[in-house]
Amino acid sequence: MTRTRIAVFVSGGGTNLQALLDAQAAGKLPHGQIVLVVSSQPDAYALTRAEKAGVPSVVCSKKELGGQAAFEAAILEALDRAGAEMIVLAGFMSILSKDFTDRFPERILNVHPALVPSFCGKGYYGLKVHEEALKRGVKVTGATVHFVNEIPDGGRIIAQKPVLVADGDTPQTLQRRVMEQAEWIILPQAAEMVAAQIAERKEHAD
Ligand code: GAR
Repeated sequence: MTRTRIAVFVSGGGTNLQALLDAQAAGKLPHGQIVLVVSSQPDAYALTRAEKAGVPSVVCSKKELGGQAAFEAAILEALDRAGAEMIVLAGFMSILSKDFTDRFPERILNVHPALVPSFCGKGYYGLKVHEEALKRGVKVTGATVHFVNEIPDGGRIIAQKPVLVADGDTPQTLQRRVMEQAEWIILPQAAEMVAAQIAERKEHAD
């Protein structure tokens, strides 16, 4: 069976990366193979998770590389070397340019910790998303997996899962519930679905 070579982009704790690694180990990612982890932060715990799983990783820091163009060039070189065909943004906190996203049409996925189009777009990332959801007083939130284009959180939606807000939730408790009940479930499922589609297209092209 052809497997799609996947690069996972991270910036922090990497629990979504872990969900993908666990899915792969459990045979739930049969059409995908995680071949590379790209971190925008040198001290991201996600790098330790990659190492423990035996997956090669690379750090591409915009600050150290001196700007967006050099940052994206370094990432592209690493992707090329790894033969990556699909990208999963799993808590990746940098914006990618149109020039970059245009190279991978419907081949980049992102997980967002809210029900897009609520609480998404520029400035909505990580805990901030849950802070804003609690401020607005919503009773239901959730997670979204979508394709990535040049508009932040603007690409076609692949999967969503709702999660109830509880009385007394803090941004931290809500974040954890959204991860447990939604993100860690729908991200590996969506990754497998897209990996299977890419693998199928590749088989037909051969
Ligand atoms: C996750 O909740 C993810 O959905 C969110 O950051 C967290 C990363 O956690 N991503 C965004 O907000 C992107 N806009 P993780 O590093 O443990 O996977």
